[in-house]
Parts: sequence; structure tokens; C-alpha cells
Amino acid sequence: MTNSSAIGLFDSGIGGLSIARKVRDLLPSENILYVADSLHAPYGDKADSFLLERMSAVTEFLLSRGAKAVVVACNTATTSAIAKLRCQYPVPIIGVEPGIKPAALCSRTGVIGVLATPGTLKTHSFVNLAERYASGVKIELQPCPDLAAQIESLSFDSDRTIALLKRYISPLIEKKVDTIILGCTHYNHVSHLIAELAGPDVTIVNTETAVANQVVRRLTAEGLLAAGNHVGRDEFWTSGVLDSYRNQIEKLWGPGENVFQL
Ligand code: DGL
Repeated sequence: MTNSSAIGLFDSGIGGLSIARKVRDLLPSENILYVADSLHAPYGDKADSFLLERMSAVTEFLLSRGAKAVVVACNTATTSAIAKLRCQYPVPIIGVEPGIKPAALCSRTGVIGVLATPGTLKTHSFVNLAERYASGVKIELQPCPDLAAQIESLSFDSDRTIALLKRYISPLIEKKVDTIILGCTHYNHVSHLIAELAGPDVTIVNTETAVANQVVRRLTAEGLLAAGNHVGRDEFWTSGVLDSYRNQIEKLWGPGENVFQL
């Protein structure tokens, strides 16, 4: 492992690309290795033990390709088992959690909503996060089964996507939230629709920029930032179907990218 080694990121699918994009923008000279564990998606309805198994397997793959740091670009995996993953591997491991703290700070009415996978909302670490940062604020939880899988299909503006979004956003609006946290990285791909459906009085909070900033801070602190001004290489790997993944990457990242199967 050297400074020119890659930053590894993973998610159950394309959700974490929103974080990879911010990392790429902030650190143009870094090599990026992104894994979509699509064969085992969605993560949001899986047991903690299964998630830890998958997180370990993907982390080992990333380390076998020389990754110098690992970003768990998935709220479900982070809240479920990042503490255990950190005990297993000696590299910096950075995660993403629903942005309760920034949402609580920006809420005027004191009622905030969280859209996330059913898995994230029932973890101890999410409950702890909510207790730690949301005193004096009411949190309305909205699990969103099927939404990440629907986003994987890339049919962002389809009737089915809009119907699912309405089903999950309407209860929050009825409960008078003025802030909605996107607690799943997949939802960043439809944040424009969520903002539109929630209306102009609702602030949408996501955490990709905060996570990318944390990656910069950790690599700086560990002396692991890439030296020089060369342009970093991006590699995309999937445990799922290569052709579908290539199509996703070409639509969401750029044509002609390096796409491989695990
Ligand atoms: N993108 C993920 C998250 O942030 C997981 C979605 C899923 O696979 O259920 O939670």
C-alpha cells in the first residue's frame, strides 16, 4: 500500500456513486476503486451477520487490489457493522450515516423526517445517533422498502418511482416535517424528485459532501494523499451482472469507463 494506491468504496449498488463522485471532485489525482455488491442487493432487508460477511468480503477484495482506505458508501452497512469491520482491518474505514445532526440544526419547526432502508432505521447505532443529536427535535422515521431496488433500475422519473416516493414522502409532510434526511445513498439519485414532491418549504439534507470531506481529512492525517497532479483512474467492479452494471456506470459516471466483474 502506497500513496498512489486507490481509495476503495462500496455499496450494495449504485447508491455510493454519489459519494464516489464527491471524492473524485475533491481528489482528482486519486485512483478510485468502486464495488457494487449488486448480487447481494438490497442490503436494506438483510441481517447484520450477513452484512458483516459481505462487508468483509468486499473489503478484502479492495485490499487485495491495494486499497489504502475503504469508504463504506452505504448507510445500512455503516449503521449495521462498521465498528466490527474497523476491528478487522488496519486501514482507515470511513462510513456514512443519516445526517441527524445537520438536520436538527437547520430545522425551524423542530420536526425532521428520515427516509432510509428498514435495516438502517432499526440499528442500535441509528437509534444512538438519533438520541445523541436530536434532543429537542422530533424525528419521524420513514422506512422505504423497494426504493433502492427501484433506483437500481435507473428509471428515476417513471410512474412507479414517483408513486413510491409519494408513498414515503406524504406521511412526513402530513407530520409537518420541515427537513428531510436522505438516509440511504441511493436516494441521492432522485433528490431532485424528493425536493419537488416535498415542496419548497422542506430542506433536503444529505451527507455525501461531509463524507468526502472526511475522506480528505483522514487521508491527510494519515499522510496517504496521492502526490502529484496526474489524473486518477476509476475502476468499477460488480458482483452482479456486468452488462447491467456497465449501463449504470455509463449513465451515471461516464462512457468508456473501466467496468469489471468480481
Ligand atoms: N445505498 C444503501 C444505503 O445507503 C443501501 C440500499 C440497499 O441496498 O437497500 O443504505
